[in-house]
Order: sequence, then C-alpha cells, then structure tokens
Amino acid sequence: MITIIGSINMDIAIQTTIFPKQGETVLGNLFTTIPGGKGANQAVAAARLGSDVQIIGAVGKDAFGTELYMNLKNENVHVDGIQKTDNSTGIANILLHNNDNRIIVVPGANFDVDQKMIDANLELIKQSALVMLQLEIPVETIEYVLKVCEDLAIPVLLNPAPAANFKQEWIDKVSYLTPNETECEVMFGEDYETVLKQYPNKIIVTLGGEGAAYFDGNQIIRIAGYKTKAVDTTGAGDTFNGAFAHAIIEGKSIEEAVRFANITASLSVEKFGAQGGMPRIEDVMIRLEEMK
Ligand code: RIB
Repeated sequence: MITIIGSINMDIAIQTTIFPKQGETVLGNLFTTIPGGKGANQAVAAARLGSDVQIIGAVGKDAFGTELYMNLKNENVHVDGIQKTDNSTGIANILLHNNDNRIIVVPGANFDVDQKMIDANLELIKQSALVMLQLEIPVETIEYVLKVCEDLAIPVLLNPAPAANFKQEWIDKVSYLTPNETECEVMFGEDYETVLKQYPNKIIVTLGGEGAAYFDGNQIIRIAGYKTKAVDTTGAGDTFNGAFAHAIIEGKSIEEAVRFANITASLSVEKFGAQGGMPRIEDVMIRLEEMK
C-alpha cells in the first residue's frame, strides 16, 4: 500500500494568451475547475497505474470538498483518511500562458492536517510500504510524519514542493527526495549536480522535458525524457512521483523507476489538467512498445 499524506485542492485554471501587467485587465481564453493538489495528484497517478493507494488529507464541508472526495473515490484511492474540517477546501489558482504555468495555492483545509489527524490514522499508516509527502501541508505535520515513519521503519518519498519550507535536517529521514532543478537549487543553494553527488541513490532531480538525473555513487545517471508536444505541464511532476513510487513498490531499480516515471509524465502533459492526462498502465505499455 502507498500512503499519501498531502494536499487536496480544486484547481481553478485560467488560460490566457496575454499575461496582465500589474494594474492591467486582460481577457482570458478559458476558465475551468479541475481536481488537483500535489497529494491528490500523486495518489491518482499511482492508482491509475494499478497501485493500491490511500490518502490522508483534509477538505472543507463545501461543494469543492465533496467533489474532490468523490473524485478520489472514483479513482480507486482509499479515502478513509480524508477528514472534512471547518476551513474551506484548498484551491490553486493556475494561470496558463505560453505552455507554462504560474500557481498560487490557498491551502485552506490542507493546513488542518495536523499531528492529531496523523495519530488518528496510525493504523492506516502502519499498512504502508511507502509514505509519500509533499510540502502543501504544515511543516510541523511533515516533521511528525517523518518521526512516525522512522519509528515504524516505513520508507518515505518526499517531493519537496513548494520548496521554500524544506528543512535540510529531513534528508536523513527520507529514502527518496524528488525536487525539480529549481527547487533543488533553492533548497541547497548549489547547482543540482553538486547536490546530487552528496546524496547517492537518494535525490532524483526532475528536469522537465529533459527527463531526470540521480547519482549512483559513481556517476550522475541521466535518463532522457520522452519528447512530446506538451498541452499543459501542470501535474507533470506529480505524475512522475506517482509513477516512480508505483515502480519502486513493484521492486524496480531506481534507474528503471525513473525511466518508467519519465514515460508516464510525458503522457500526462499531452492533455489538459493536472489529473486530466495521467495515463493508465495500458497507455504507458503502448508508449514503451512504440519506443522499442
Ligand atoms: O503540482 C500541481 C499542483 O500544484 C496543482 O494541481 C495545484 O493544486 C498545486 O497543488
């Protein structure tokens, strides 16, 4: 079982060809609401590939909360660990412009994921072969989960996004850390290659369309991405993380898992929305065949 302890958001996406300057009003092309949140996205990515996945998180008692809860349930994610709190459901304001995105997250109920909620779900956590975390829930909760997992000897994958709240002392407590190139440089203040060399087989840096890299103890292993036409890159990192976790739990090596995650993420950017393009295992298999 993969347990995700993380955010559940409604993504409020606006597509525009003109990006407004400060104080300016422009007309956009498209507005839509789509399920998102890094925690929920990673849960859906792994579940669509066939992993047994549960999520521990929080939504509000509002319409978005109900919709997001039902969405996860329909995606075969176990939802017993979701609590409805008095805060509003988390949202992400996503501005899509020139095949790129800018995101503002308002955490709302996601910040109610606290130590008490973790204790209440301890029996669920004990079933985990891997716990996955991102940084859209309170830092104190992350710290507490790391301690709980250390005590229970459960491996942790930490996707340090957004990177600002990352603490370097967490590194020894995680099995895998998966920043993108920018996050890696924000977290460590050094270029990613220098950082990788200090943490063999632990840090996997994602490099967008260029794929991903890690250090195997002897050399930096670079695994190229699959070149494709991106429609929307929102959630590509989440798809990578969900797929990487799925492959690791299946017993694949880091190299095989990164290769699999690259292909899965490349499929996800071909459709609109964070979860919209996340492929099922059959689709990944077809692409792997095409590549032979
Ligand atoms: O990683 C993409 C996600 O970040 C979006 O779905 C949004 O909700 C934010 O959490």
